[in-house]
Amino acid sequence: MLADKDRIFRNLYGFDDWGLEGARKRGAWDGTKGFIEKGHDWIVDEIKESGLRGRGGAGFPTGLKWSFMPKASDGRPHYLVVNADESEPGTCKDREIMRHDPHLLIEGCLLAAFAMRAHTGYIYIRGEFIRERERLQAAIDQAYDAKLIGRNNVHGWDFDLHLHHGAGAYICGEETALLESLEGKKGQPRLKPPFPANVGLYGAPTTVNNVESIAVAPDILRRGASWFSSLGRPNNAGTKLFCISGHVNAPCNVEEEMGIPLRELIDKHAGGVRGGWDNLLAVIPGGSSVPCLPASSCQSLHMDFDTLRDLKSGLGTAAVIVMDTSTDIIQAIARISYFYKHESCGQCTPCREGTGWMWRVLQRMARGEAEKREIDLLLDVTYQVEGHTICALGDAAAWPIQGLIRHFRHVIEERIDRYSAKSKPDEQPAVVAAQ
Ligand SMILES: Cc1cc2nc3c(=O)[nH]c(=O)nc-3n(C[C@H](O)[C@H](O)[C@H](O)COP(=O)(O)O)c2cc1C
Ligand code: SF4
Repeated sequence: MLADKDRIFRNLYGFDDWGLEGARKRGAWDGTKGFIEKGHDWIVDEIKESGLRGRGGAGFPTGLKWSFMPKASDGRPHYLVVNADESEPGTCKDREIMRHDPHLLIEGCLLAAFAMRAHTGYIYIRGEFIRERERLQAAIDQAYDAKLIGRNNVHGWDFDLHLHHGAGAYICGEETALLESLEGKKGQPRLKPPFPANVGLYGAPTTVNNVESIAVAPDILRRGASWFSSLGRPNNAGTKLFCISGHVNAPCNVEEEMGIPLRELIDKHAGGVRGGWDNLLAVIPGGSSVPCLPASSCQSLHMDFDTLRDLKSGLGTAAVIVMDTSTDIIQAIARISYFYKHESCGQCTPCREGTGWMWRVLQRMARGEAEKREIDLLLDVTYQVEGHTICALGDAAAWPIQGLIRHFRHVIEERIDRYSAKSKPDEQPAVVAAQ
């Protein structure tokens, strides 16, 4: 288990003071000026060295992303944008940072913005997060009042931070849809390239990062890149917030070392699987968009990016959704499919049409009202959607279905067999009557 001394989020559960005084006691805003004095590139290099990979889902190396921002200004401003949209089902970690430890995020914004030569930052917060917005705004106001941010602040780098409230669309968590929405337009993803580091918010160089990615940066600088990289496994460094939900005895959020075995994570922090480990059916390890894994793969599974990728799943947002044997796995994945159909922005045909088509087939399969040959047809359609769309929502809609078919094809087939066995005697009189 992660030692208490290695925890970054010391007020994750809100037992302590969220405000500036409490945050300072926990170490926030300590040494910030010194980091800025070491220069832009020093910060970028430290974050690179630490091995931090983005916590928003894709796991892209954060320091490398920061290094893509132009080193000199061509007259356009640079922007930092923090993605606080947190809408991936099962994921509920960023909201805890914002309401219980907001100063870590605000300090991270200043340092990241300085590293990328940005004087302005925006935090784009999910529409439904009303209280979180109020709390975060109060913390931002505290930081302004204490001259920690703003013009002529004590750190010597002018920095304005704005909090922007979304309207509750999942697609606005996709970074370019987020930028469109921030500009006041309909939240639809942009074609890439150009990438935001060249043409982002208002056409200017921009970096979009997840709340957790930014909030861990100050502690990485305080404790050193080698401290962070010593935790976890090679290429999968540091601590990570896990959100454990579903059929466990004590659903929770917890900060743990990257690479922790899934069983330890569930048993030690979430009170174990409901009905015991033998009652486990499957786990979705990284938020609803990643393929599920059957219980047989979960026994000695390490929770990190590379292990889960090798198993054809993903760490995603590290939102672990546990399903016990009472779960109708076809119905569960059909429900997830409905979510992606509902949230598709409709720009690309494979996503707009495919998400609805896949959901309708899955609904029939959940009833058993399908042909067995349709299983391969459905799989084929997922491959036609995956990788053929403007943004990764298409992939997110395809992957859960691929996981279902990969691991639970037999359940779909049995359901079809049961349905056709049951419906045959009933059909007989109807056919006779029709004749
Ligand atoms: C449909 C969709 C929804 C997304 N939602 C979120 C989100 O709510 N929060 C988030 O941080 N990233 C989300 N992302 C990923 C972002 O596009 C982007 O990769 C991320 O904010 C980058 O931050 P990171 O490098 O710190 O991980 C989403 C991506 C897609 C395709
Ligand atoms: S993949 Fe779906 S959500 Fe993304 S741009 Fe295309 S239609 Fe919109």
